[in-house]
Amino acid sequence: MAAMAAVALSACCCVRGEKKSLDAQVEDILSQMTLEEKIAIIHAQSKFSSAGVPRLGIPELWTDDGPHGVRPDVLWDQWNSAGNTNDSCTAFPALTCLAATFDRELSSLYGVSVGEEARYRKKNVLLGPGVNIYRTPLGGRNFEYMGEDPYLASRMCVNYIKGVQSNGVATCVKHFCLNNQEFNRHTVNVKVDDRTLYEIYLPAFKAAVTEGGSWSIMGAYNLYDGTHLCHNSRILNDILKKEWNYDGVVISDWGGVSDTEGAVKGGLDLEFGTWTDGLTMGATNSYDRYWMANPYLEKIRSGEYGTDELDDKCRRVLKLMLRTSLYDNGGPGRFTCPEHYAAARRIGAEGIVLLKNEGGLLPIAADAAKIVVLGENAIKPMTVGGGSSSLKVQKEVSILEGIRNAFPNAEVIYERAYQGSTKGGYDNYGAYDITDERSAETLVADALKACEGADYVIFAGGLNKDWMQDAEGTDRVDYNLPYGQNEVIEALAAVRSDLVVVNVSGNAVAMPWADRVGAIIQDWYLGSEAGNSLADVLSGAVCPSGKLPFTIPVALEDGPLKTPEQYPGVKGEDGIWQEEYSEGIYVGYRWYEKTGVKPRFAFGYGLSYTSFAIGEPKLSSKVLRDKLTVTVPVENTGDVRGAEVVQLYIGADNSVVDRPVKELKGFEKVWLNPGEKSSVSFTIDRQAVSFFDTEIHDWNAEAGDYTIYIGSSSDDISSTARFSL
Ligand code: GLC
Repeated sequence: MAAMAAVALSACCCVRGEKKSLDAQVEDILSQMTLEEKIAIIHAQSKFSSAGVPRLGIPELWTDDGPHGVRPDVLWDQWNSAGNTNDSCTAFPALTCLAATFDRELSSLYGVSVGEEARYRKKNVLLGPGVNIYRTPLGGRNFEYMGEDPYLASRMCVNYIKGVQSNGVATCVKHFCLNNQEFNRHTVNVKVDDRTLYEIYLPAFKAAVTEGGSWSIMGAYNLYDGTHLCHNSRILNDILKKEWNYDGVVISDWGGVSDTEGAVKGGLDLEFGTWTDGLTMGATNSYDRYWMANPYLEKIRSGEYGTDELDDKCRRVLKLMLRTSLYDNGGPGRFTCPEHYAAARRIGAEGIVLLKNEGGLLPIAADAAKIVVLGENAIKPMTVGGGSSSLKVQKEVSILEGIRNAFPNAEVIYERAYQGSTKGGYDNYGAYDITDERSAETLVADALKACEGADYVIFAGGLNKDWMQDAEGTDRVDYNLPYGQNEVIEALAAVRSDLVVVNVSGNAVAMPWADRVGAIIQDWYLGSEAGNSLADVLSGAVCPSGKLPFTIPVALEDGPLKTPEQYPGVKGEDGIWQEEYSEGIYVGYRWYEKTGVKPRFAFGYGLSYTSFAIGEPKLSSKVLRDKLTVTVPVENTGDVRGAEVVQLYIGADNSVVDRPVKELKGFEKVWLNPGEKSSVSFTIDRQAVSFFDTEIHDWNAEAGDYTIYIGSSSDDISSTARFSL
């Protein structure tokens, strides 16, 4: 049997020594498959795997979460982990941190590294990256995504995807599309106009599949225009497969499929996670009852359905297999190796955003004698929890440990200061209990006492991976920090105006104390090297260079979502929540610049330990025909090495439609030594000035005058230039 299988498989790959094209190989295999075998490969056979074609020697296909590291193996048909001892991985920083680096090269490093871990663990499809746009600071999964701007998310996902796939592991860019909240994610129906859809919510997915070449894409749970995304023919067939000419596989989110007709005709290719229609909901191991299993087979056998859609799905799945499980040039991969920890540490340090640094308070002096570290997030494990991106790690360096590592000669004292979420874990791994018996009052009193005589006081607070915080399946219900942290910070700031506040989160939070503390750092979920990445910045070993990938408003009410209809939606009689994206394209800084409401910290903002001078832009032409280049000089005018992210925005001076003041259309990060001068250049094309014109259902680069804004933040523009089209 094996010999026959080998013959069958080899026949499809090479004839007379030359490599058949992927399509030709697909046709060869498809022509040998039975109807039952075709049905078998388009739906799951276990929690995270789908069938191969054993008779032809084609192995099964293994998927696994997640975007920040490879999830521990689960039992065949369970969510609980299998309790293996060989799957404790490297946890890389959450992707919002990667976005905050504004560094395409780090995206490559990240993708190659996490792809090696997936390859080593014999996973064919890594279920990430997530690129849904950050629409509200309450969004539970924003920590997994790449911020509020479609251009930033588009640029930063491409190299991650290429990096992962260079290992022969597919990415599965998710959650396609309009899954911008967790609240009622299975039943919220998003209504959005086409211009907003094409300008804000599709670009990152389009870049992922047309530039990143993502070999698979995950349909979202929610509905758009009344149809679930896993069956949404307009999104999956008309836009993804026709307009974008996609040849990859649409994989459902786990449990995102709810009927055979929709799945078969609506553009789905591979069904996962269905908790069966089963006729007995919840029947385990009933993969044959999946919507695209026996129910589909019977409709074909009865003649109700043809096999055109089936063959198309199979072609896509077989191509995915040839690119991954049948691809033998991907190497063995690597797992928890020093290079991966170094990558995680570097990406973390270069994504951290310094928001405030009164009087050059930071970095911490090397000879600091007493450093007090406060707050629950200095010791709380963060790689575990938060939903499907939860990881079982080989190690996780806490903030406290990281600071102790960086300052071995200092007395580093820890005090809890507040207690919020004392226990954690996920499935059946990573359980911890950091309960402190003291009362809230005692915790604060002890923290205040510890501050006496300290050279530095670092408060590490923020959010965490609990429900109603930064976690899948729920949104936050309050823009404020939880657990009374604001009061604790105020109490500490009253005695230490040089308090350093480290906000560990994947989302913006209210910072009413911002004017009363010495420094503020936006720290992210940084994974295995979290404490070392932060300590690298606190010590100055790495000069902070991150920029905010989202706006931090003073108050939630300053944002664009004013009505329940806009968020979280209004429940209809049919149990479906109707939601209107009536703010349209005015998401994030687009909104704040339109309304003139000043945020606490703006999109693209981030300080350094050095300073930079960004010079006047030079344009290759004042008229844009096909392309023009913009060159900008940059100088490090300070006394330490650092990096600046030069940002280029474009605004239409006169337009037939309402347009944002300006939109990000370029960013370049450049590391410079003290006194060093360099320049960065951008290429502007017609797409960069276009808006999506629903009259012609296409991008419209309208003639007119445009302004280029150059700066180090969306609200710190150092120069402008004009050109016309
Ligand atoms: C979850 C998530 C998705 C994940 C999948 C498998 O519900 O929405 O991101 O990849 O199911 O765990």
